[in-house]
Amino acid sequence: MLKWSFTSKEHYNHTYHLTELNVQYLASYVAVISGHKVSEIQGYIRELEQDEALRALLRERTLASPDRHNSDVEPRYGRRLGWYALVRATKPKVIVETGVDRGLGTAVLAAALMRNDKEGYPGLVYATDIIATCGHLFAEPYKSYGRILLGDSVELLKKFPEPVDIFLHDSDHRPEYEWAEFLAIEPRLHATSIVMSDNSQQTSKMFEFAERIGKSFLYFQDQPRITGGRAMALAPRLFPGRKRGSRRMRRRSSRLDDRCIRGLSRGADLRIGAFKRS
Ligand SMILES: C[S@@+](CC[C@H](N)C(=O)[O-])C[C@H]1O[C@@H](n2cnc3c(N)ncnc32)[C@H](O)[C@@H]1O
Repeated sequence: MLKWSFTSKEHYNHTYHLTELNVQYLASYVAVISGHKVSEIQGYIRELEQDEALRALLRERTLASPDRHNSDVEPRYGRRLGWYALVRATKPKVIVETGVDRGLGTAVLAAALMRNDKEGYPGLVYATDIIATCGHLFAEPYKSYGRILLGDSVELLKKFPEPVDIFLHDSDHRPEYEWAEFLAIEPRLHATSIVMSDNSQQTSKMFEFAERIGKSFLYFQDQPRITGGRAMALAPRLFPGRKRGSRRMRRRSSRLDDRCIRGLSRGADLRIGAFKRS
């Protein structure tokens, strides 16, 4: 964490690159979930990595943001490469992502939807958050492919009117809250919906939900890249909805950082759990 703190300005919802090997495994993982060839998924991952227009916009929005002093200018998509490839492969009409934060995930999902739309497969991402100022990275032209829904995610999900093709939990990571989100969205899932959770490294709720509805559960463990002594940090999920730290929060944050160092050294981190209803 010490090395990371010298090379990154982020102190919450950290972003990082994945190792090359981990990206290969991610491609294979998405191929299994989507039923598409690994080579096709690798093509989508490259597409995002080489999308200079998106990268330039993310840099520009970061530099213009009041949050710029706590943000890394160069986007690090990490596991979101998998989210992007999954959307490109499966062409969903409706995606729901809970938890927007700066909007990196929402922008990536919308970028995939924009490409799908150009190929004749329209879709929208609905993303929830309780913080009114969330989502500064989610800007035009990508914004036309999504909507931010402000409010408590579970309450919003209960009222969500449409069938959901891809659901992604990435908001309040307390197990009971993750579970409440799954129950709230369950009536909107259909036979080929895909559900992901950014939380399965620390709770078994997604595994239990898969059991509940009789579907399979798959688990991907992400591996942050360490280049030239640079650790691209792990992302402890701290205090959902709270952006700045009290002294108590900083103390707790530093305890979690220690835990993450241990996680990094034994390679024990995970970001995507997903299953497909077949
Ligand atoms: C881990 S961040 C989301 C990261 C984002 N998906 C990304 O790809 O970078 C978690 C977000 O969930 C939001 N959140 C926390 N509790 C929530 C709730 N009850 N309803 C909706 N959003 C919530 C927080 O405000 C925070 O912005």
